[in-house]
Amino acid sequence: MTAFPNLTGPGCEVPSTQSDLWIWLRGDKRGELVLMARSLEAELGDAFGLEHMVDGFRHDTGRDLTSYEDGTENPKGDDAINAAFATGGGEGLDGSSFVAVQQWVHDLGRFSSFDQQDRDNIIGRRLKDNVELEDAPASAHVKRTAQESFDPEAFVLRRSMTWADSSGEGLMFVAFGNSHDAFGAQMRRMVGLDDGIVDGLFRFSRPVTGSYYWCPPVVDGHLDLSRLGL
Ligand code: HEM
Repeated sequence: MTAFPNLTGPGCEVPSTQSDLWIWLRGDKRGELVLMARSLEAELGDAFGLEHMVDGFRHDTGRDLTSYEDGTENPKGDDAINAAFATGGGEGLDGSSFVAVQQWVHDLGRFSSFDQQDRDNIIGRRLKDNVELEDAPASAHVKRTAQESFDPEAFVLRRSMTWADSSGEGLMFVAFGNSHDAFGAQMRRMVGLDDGIVDGLFRFSRPVTGSYYWCPPVVDGHLDLSRLGL
C-alpha cells in the first residue's frame, strides 16, 4: 500500500486527502442507509472519527451529470475480474482489490457554456450516440486514459457515482484495480506528467479529495484480514 499521490500539472492540481478507512453503503432505501451509517459510526467511534461522508446516486442509466455515459469501456466478465482483483499473491491477498476514491466538483455552468463539439472533444465521445471520436484532440479524456495505450496496459473497473448537495455537484470517482498502478498511471497522464497535455476535464471539473484503500478478500462471508496479521 502507498498513500494517494499529490500531483501537480500545468494549471491543475490533484490533492491527496488520504484517510484510513472507507465504507461504501449501497442500497435504494435512503433512510436505511442513514441509519446504517449512524450505527457504523457509533460502533467504530472509539477508533475512527468521521472525516467525510458523500451521498451518491445513479443518474439515469449511469451517466455523469454532464450527460455523458460513464463506464462504457469498463472491462467485462473475466477481464473485469482480472482488472479489479489481485491474483497470484497468495492467501490473504488473492481476491482483494485496490481502490482509488476521488471526489470531483463540476462547474456545470461552465460546461454548458461550451458548444456541443467542444464538449464532445473534452470527453472524446459524441454525446448523441456515445461513439468515440477518432479525431478528438490529445487532451480528450478518453485519449488520456485509453487503457490499452499504457505500457503495461492499465485496466481498472470503474464504479463512479454522481453526487449533489447544497455545496455543488460532480462525480465521486471510484476505480478498483489489482494494484494501484493502473489508476496512478492514468492520473499522471491526465495531469500532463507524461507529455505536458492536460485532460480536458480540468476545464470544468477538479478533484477535491483523493484516497487509496485496500479491500480485503471475503472468505465465507467474512473479511479475511490474515495479511494484516489479524
Ligand atoms: C470529472 C471526473 C470524470 C468524469 C466526468 C469522467 C467521465 C468519463 C466518461 C464520460 C468516459 C467515457 C465512457 C467510458 O468509457 O466510461 C470515461 C472514460 C474513462 N475514464 Fe473517466 N471520468 C472522470 C475521471 C476519471 C479519472 C480520475 C480516471 C482515472 C484516473 C478516469 C479513467 C477513465 C478510463 C480508464 C476511461 C476509459 C478509457 C478507455 O479505455 O477508453 N476517469 N470517463
